[in-house]
Amino acid sequence: MEETKKSLLDDSFTSAMTLTNSGVPQVPDRYVLPPAQRPALGSSIGTRDDTTLPVIDLSLLHQPLLRSRAIHEINMACKEFGFFQVINHGIPSSVVKDALDAATQFFDLPVEEKMLLVSSDVHQPVRYGTSINHSTDKVHYWRDFIKHYSHPLSKWIDMWPSNPPCYKDKVGKYAEATHLLHKQLLEAISESLGLEKNYLQEQTEEGSQVIAVNCYPACPEPEVTLGMPPHSDFGSLTILLQSSEGLQIMDANKNWVCVPYIEGALIVQLGDQVEVMSNGIYKSVIHRVTVNKHVNRLSFASLHSLPLHKKISPAPELLDGNNAAAYGEFSFNDFLNYISSNNDFLQERFIDTLKKSSS
Ligand code: OGA
Ligand code: NI
Repeated sequence: MEETKKSLLDDSFTSAMTLTNSGVPQVPDRYVLPPAQRPALGSSIGTRDDTTLPVIDLSLLHQPLLRSRAIHEINMACKEFGFFQVINHGIPSSVVKDALDAATQFFDLPVEEKMLLVSSDVHQPVRYGTSINHSTDKVHYWRDFIKHYSHPLSKWIDMWPSNPPCYKDKVGKYAEATHLLHKQLLEAISESLGLEKNYLQEQTEEGSQVIAVNCYPACPEPEVTLGMPPHSDFGSLTILLQSSEGLQIMDANKNWVCVPYIEGALIVQLGDQVEVMSNGIYKSVIHRVTVNKHVNRLSFASLHSLPLHKKISPAPELLDGNNAAAYGEFSFNDFLNYISSNNDFLQERFIDTLKKSSS
């Protein structure tokens, strides 16, 4: 056993999938979190199960008499959690299933094939990796991923994995459908803030979409590690598809709440850009990923963001004598520079560096 552990540790890159497939009885030491950061699985301390997290029926948005009800529900969910699930969102279940299928096939490829796309450079348009950044992480997370720019699709799709052969087509269809859904959600979110329907959309029209396809293989010791550490997403919105339970969000009392798996639903999470644009009326949601002993969990995080160099600041319409701007401006590029120059970025969230001292 010691032998196995040692030889795996000596490799500079070992994916979580490789560890799972080799049948390690324990996680290597680099995955073991300090006790205070472990997920407390099966205990009720600091964690709660909640079936009352908001689930919004998006078909209401298309019904003139019911739209305002949906907007109100979105407003409540964004204020309380920065999070909601959506049903009747218009993305066909076959598109979702095909995307998950392609992802399963990708992660099942031989290591050498996936390593063709490995990179620790966060500016790379297509990047396979493990943990958050295998070359700089002090503690490792039980997660493999392939991340790629996805909008406009024709600009990026040729760089996507050519194996499995169906990947580009199946993930491409999901990416386009998600991009459309994200536009509808931004309109509804702008409206829910009392802004022009197109307010956020005008700013994001030229924006980027990055799809992170995450794989959290079954883990021998889920109680000592995590799939992803607590963080908020940097963009405007993240639309998340999960194949089974594992996501947890932090509520206003700093309790971790397990997000229930709802067949056919998608998860919407507010990112830092919406927190800044809304001047803090809405907050980006802090979330983390737990792993489990029995199933490989997959997720698609579609991260939508403003153009790389576009500076974003609180909407002037939301500011007046009583409501001063609570955040400084920032661009997506500022964020990328922050995470690539700051190894401890998990300790201090980027958005906290933007807060004005009076808030
Ligand atoms: C992310 C993320 C959650 C999940 O990719 O930013 O938070 O369930 N993913 O994979
Ligand atoms: Ni996230």
